[in-house]
Amino acid sequence: MANIHMEGIVKDYGSVRAIHGVDLHVNDGEFVAFVGPSGCGKSTMLRMIAGLEEISGGALRIGDRLVNDVEPKDRDVAMVFQDYALYPHMTIRENIGFGLKMRGWKAADIAPKVEEAARILQIGDYLDRRPGQLSGGQRQRVAMGRAIIREPSVFLFDEPLSNLDAKLRVEMRTQIKRLHAMLGTTTIYVTHDQTEAMTLADRVVVLKAGHIVQEGPPMELYSRPNCRFVGEFIGSPQMNIFSGEVDRSGGTPKLRIGNAALDLGEVPAQDGARLDVGVRPEHLNWAEPGRGRLTPVVEVFEPLGSDTMAICRFGGQELTARLAPDVPLQREQEIALGYDIANLHYFDGENGRRLNAA
Ligand SMILES: Nc1ncnc2c1ncn2[C@@H]1O[C@H](COP(=O)(O)OP(=O)(O)OP(=O)(O)O)[C@@H](O)[C@H]1O
Ligand SMILES: [Mg+2]
Repeated sequence: MANIHMEGIVKDYGSVRAIHGVDLHVNDGEFVAFVGPSGCGKSTMLRMIAGLEEISGGALRIGDRLVNDVEPKDRDVAMVFQDYALYPHMTIRENIGFGLKMRGWKAADIAPKVEEAARILQIGDYLDRRPGQLSGGQRQRVAMGRAIIREPSVFLFDEPLSNLDAKLRVEMRTQIKRLHAMLGTTTIYVTHDQTEAMTLADRVVVLKAGHIVQEGPPMELYSRPNCRFVGEFIGSPQMNIFSGEVDRSGGTPKLRIGNAALDLGEVPAQDGARLDVGVRPEHLNWAEPGRGRLTPVVEVFEPLGSDTMAICRFGGQELTARLAPDVPLQREQEIALGYDIANLHYFDGENGRRLNAA
C-alpha cells in the first residue's frame, strides 16, 4: 500500500521542457486518471513514476520514500503498457510468472500465484498457449495478470485498452474497475479517452502542455470546469461553445453572436466583453415553436435509440443537442430549444477562465 507524492516535478528532454513543475498527491488506494491531448505529457509523468525516465527536477515520493534515484525494480510499482509487451516465445503461464521467477521465487511457489491471477482475470483456460494464440483482449488480461501477481504497491497503466475494439474496451474497463475494487491498489491510469477516465477514476487529472489544468472527482470536472479547455475536453458529445460579446443594452445580459442573441444569467463581464458560453448537449431541451430560447436549424441528426443527437447551426456556429428519441426532426428545419440558465458555463473570451460566480 502506498501513496504517491509529487512536488515540483519537472522533465526536460534536452532543451525542451515537457513537464513544468507538477504537484500532485495520490492517496493510498486511490484510482487517479491522467487525461489530456496527445503530447501533453501523460506517458512522461507515468514513466517518471515507474522509474523508466529520469526526473529532471522536483521530488517524487512513493510511500514515505524519496524514489527519484531508485531503480524501477525497487520502486514496488507494476506498469501495464498499451502494447502489452508479452514474451512471444513463452507460454501464458510463464509470462505471468516471469516477474516472480526473476525475483528468485521457486516454481512451486509461483504456480499457485499464477493460478490465482488467472482465475481473477478469467484466463485460466489459456495458460498453456502462447501470446500469438490469444485475442487482443486476452493478451491484455495476461499483461494485467503479470502486473497483479507481483502484488505491487502501485499499478501504472498507460493506455492499456487503446488497441482493443470499442466493445472489448468497455468490457475491459469494467474488469479493471472490478480489479481495483477487489485489490484496492493505488492506481494511476493514463488515457486520452475522457470517458475511460470519467468512468474509472476516483479523481481525474487533466494535463495540457506539461501542466495540470484541473484535477478533481469526475463529476466536479463535468459540472464545474475551471476553463474552456476542460469544459470541452470532459463530456461526450463535446460541450457546445458560443463565442460572442456581452450585450447589456436591454437590462438582462445577452450574448450577441452575429445576428443572433442568447439569454444569459448574471455574468461578471462588462458590456462588449468577449465571452465564450458553454452548454452541454444534454442541457438543451426541445421546446414548442416560439417558446424556446434559441432557434437553430437542423443539419443532420443521429438516432442512438436511447436519444437522438441533433447537429444544428445557430448564429453561424455549430451546436449539438441531445434530444429525446421521439422528437420530430427534419433536415434544414428550424427547431426551438430551451435551457436552464443555471446550466450555462461562462468562460472569459480572452483567456478561457471560468467566470461563473458559484
Ligand atoms: N524521448 C523523448 N525525447 C524528446 N522529447 C520527448 C521524448 N519523449 C516524449 N517527448 C516529448 O514530450 C512531450 C510529452 O510526451 P508524452 O509521450 O508524455 O505525451 P502523451 O501525453 O503521453 O501523448 P500521447 O497521448 O500521444 O501518448 C511531447 O511533446 C513529446 O514530443
Ligand atoms: Mg502517451
